[in-house]
Amino acid sequence: MTGQMRNLCTLLGIEEEVPSRLLADLLGVHAERPLTDPPPFPSDVADDGTPVEFSIQFDDDGRRHLRTLCEALAPEPTAANNLTAAQDLLSVLAERHHLDLGKLDAVRDLLTPEHPQGDFSWWWSFIFPQGAAAPKIKIYVNPAMHGEEEAPKLVEEAFQRLGLHGAFATATKFGMQRHGQDRFAFFALDLDDSPTARVKLYLAHRDADVAVAERAAAAVPGIEAGRIREFCDVLAPGTAEFTRRPLISSYSFVEGDDSTPSNYSLYLPLRDYVEHDGIALERVQELFRGQDLAPESITEVLRAVTDRPLADNTGLIAHVSLRLSPGTSGNSVYVSSEAYGGTRR
Ligand code: TRP
Repeated sequence: MTGQMRNLCTLLGIEEEVPSRLLADLLGVHAERPLTDPPPFPSDVADDGTPVEFSIQFDDDGRRHLRTLCEALAPEPTAANNLTAAQDLLSVLAERHHLDLGKLDAVRDLLTPEHPQGDFSWWWSFIFPQGAAAPKIKIYVNPAMHGEEEAPKLVEEAFQRLGLHGAFATATKFGMQRHGQDRFAFFALDLDDSPTARVKLYLAHRDADVAVAERAAAAVPGIEAGRIREFCDVLAPGTAEFTRRPLISSYSFVEGDDSTPSNYSLYLPLRDYVEHDGIALERVQELFRGQDLAPESITEVLRAVTDRPLADNTGLIAHVSLRLSPGTSGNSVYVSSEAYGGTRR
């Protein structure tokens, strides 16, 4: 993974020192473990249990940013120990990277159950913007860490405490229209103090068609909602219903948003809707051509992480997202390290 990270940094023109150090901090004692051993804990970050996933954010203006989604694993990983490890890591990173913990502290007691439930408690995102010296750090939490039935309460209470009083009602009205099939998947906080620091809510839509995403997107006025169907048609042509891994929506709220999010994003788990990664690559290239992004920019990303024949498996491209804000849009591509062998077919 260190080599892949280095290659991605070189490709994107990002200084590799900070990303490599963060990856080492994250992996802790597990960094030395041979990858021929089974994963120390079945992290849900990636299909093969690797606690790290890369993504590349492509902006409208051609800028590209490297990000990693990761889970801190305790030396003896269990749900409770991993939550402790995440908090220990927070103390280290808060000091070193001058994180603003104001938002997190407002909700922290909600996010630290004694007996955490579900697939994970806290995940991290480290974002390395092109041309910036400092990383941005974001924390993702599992709304179901007190149990699935408690998830709505957790989300509602967190929004209230963060002063986003109308956010829960908006997200529920537009994004949770199908009882039992739409669920709260992730809740996330940017740990910086800029006015654009976001509070994000992610919803997973089981067995959804494109109209479900379009209805969810209607929470954000002024975005090009027509792009949603186009995005799904290019990436998963002929898919009437996303019956495998679900489509996921997210809303971002920034300071002053209260009840109307300033962004809607849609995440499509491409790996479930292609025969193999060669096809996944072709579809992302087609998507990029339609958006004036260079199609080879995604090929280069895949080459930076692997030289395996693309037709051998699916899952190298795990998700692709479409980001829509009034006046701007962008895409991100989520790439597996395949450190533990990748998605099993
Ligand atoms: N691996 C999980 C999934 O596929 C979580 C996840 C990782 C995810 N990266 C993501 C979800 C990107 C949505 C978008 O659902």
